[in-house]
Amino acid sequence: MIPFSVRHSGHLKGELKLSGDKSITHRAIIAGAISVGKTRINNPAVNLDSFHTTQAFRKLGIRIVQHSAKYITVFGNGLRGLRQAAGPVYVGDSGTTIRLLSGLLAGQAFDSTLTAGRSLSGRPMKRVIAPIRLMGGDISARHLKGSTELYPPLKIKGRALKGVVYKLPVASAQVKSAIILAALYAKNKTRIIEPIKTRDHTERMLKLFKADIKVSGKAITVKPAEELISPGSIVVPSDISSASFFIVAALLLPGSRIRIRSVSLNPTRTGFLRVLKRMGADITIYPSTLHPSFGEPRGDILVRSSRLKGTIVKKEEIPSLIDELPILMTAACFAQGKTRFIGVKELRVKETDRVNSLVANLKKMGAKIGVVRVRGKDETVLVHGSGALSGARVKSYGDHRTAMSLVVAGLAARGKTGIDDISCIEKSFPDFTRKLRHLLKKV
Ligand code: S3P
Repeated sequence: MIPFSVRHSGHLKGELKLSGDKSITHRAIIAGAISVGKTRINNPAVNLDSFHTTQAFRKLGIRIVQHSAKYITVFGNGLRGLRQAAGPVYVGDSGTTIRLLSGLLAGQAFDSTLTAGRSLSGRPMKRVIAPIRLMGGDISARHLKGSTELYPPLKIKGRALKGVVYKLPVASAQVKSAIILAALYAKNKTRIIEPIKTRDHTERMLKLFKADIKVSGKAITVKPAEELISPGSIVVPSDISSASFFIVAALLLPGSRIRIRSVSLNPTRTGFLRVLKRMGADITIYPSTLHPSFGEPRGDILVRSSRLKGTIVKKEEIPSLIDELPILMTAACFAQGKTRFIGVKELRVKETDRVNSLVANLKKMGAKIGVVRVRGKDETVLVHGSGALSGARVKSYGDHRTAMSLVVAGLAARGKTGIDDISCIEKSFPDFTRKLRHLLKKV
């Protein structure tokens, strides 16, 4: 447990360089491991989740050398070069690791068991098991009495897979990616149709490794691969989700001006920037023309403090800002007027139920926030922004994004805010409070 207290603070000033994007780093390690050749991953994510992906592949026989925070090298063993792990592969609480690996391991010539930490052991896995079973995969999981859902640990029996046409029932990049990885090993081609487009890092990464993947709107076609070929070197853009906490803090603290360098600008991830701009945020984006060959758009973002007003966040926008909903809900409390977040159901199955964690905490800080249903079906969070919050004793519920949102809320609120435990932040951003202090000092 690491309790943390934060007081109303001045402004943020200066430049920020963050470590690499977590989603892209997971994919770079995976593609590097199953391709031919060495992959140098520059600016990788440095956090607990990425560490678990690295450890998982080491257990599966892949040599991975961490040179410094600046780069790691993955020594690829080819598409069929993974080896059976000596025992269960533990993935910590990394949802991306377990879901992507369940697809990847389903088509191997050996069996695997994936075990998880406490929070991930309570998160749903049927969404990924169902399509893999349709492909001929054999995955069994834990049942809870009275529920039809499936939970880790996962027991995967390696099988020959066949291609399928699969319409995803939920918009999930993790599920899509699991199917794409399984499809590389299938007998024939696979077609996936998304209900709403989600982050496309797997498609971009595998194309870079010469996989035969075609994307047309919300449909993705994957042809089985003979081999993937490493491009040799990848530069991961900085993590836009980590940046979101600084962006909102700078908007809320009057007199702030920060520039964030070389951050991911992939349009499937930048929905929150579009929403903040609608709310009146002074954000300028400078797209970079460097590294176009690395497959992921990037650039600098300049943020100046702004007065925000309420907006409507539509269901179709949710996947492009799914991880930024906690900080956007926080921002909405400091805005003037109503903000609606329509279709937030998926937020209930993250590291914690983030609808509950945010509503409960922000209410304690004096926010007018609650859950309503639009047209009787889409769960909606409604915030009546009043322009201010007051410090209170709040809880992270062991969730990194809830914790970081509360730190930002505490900086902008009147008085003092005490958070019960922020140790969970190491999952995605161990350097968060240090970087924040650095920008606050330059006053
Ligand atoms: C991720 C996809 C999203 C996101 C998660 C990372 C990924 O999850 O919330 O933090 O790297 O593919 P879902 O696929 O469950 O929406």
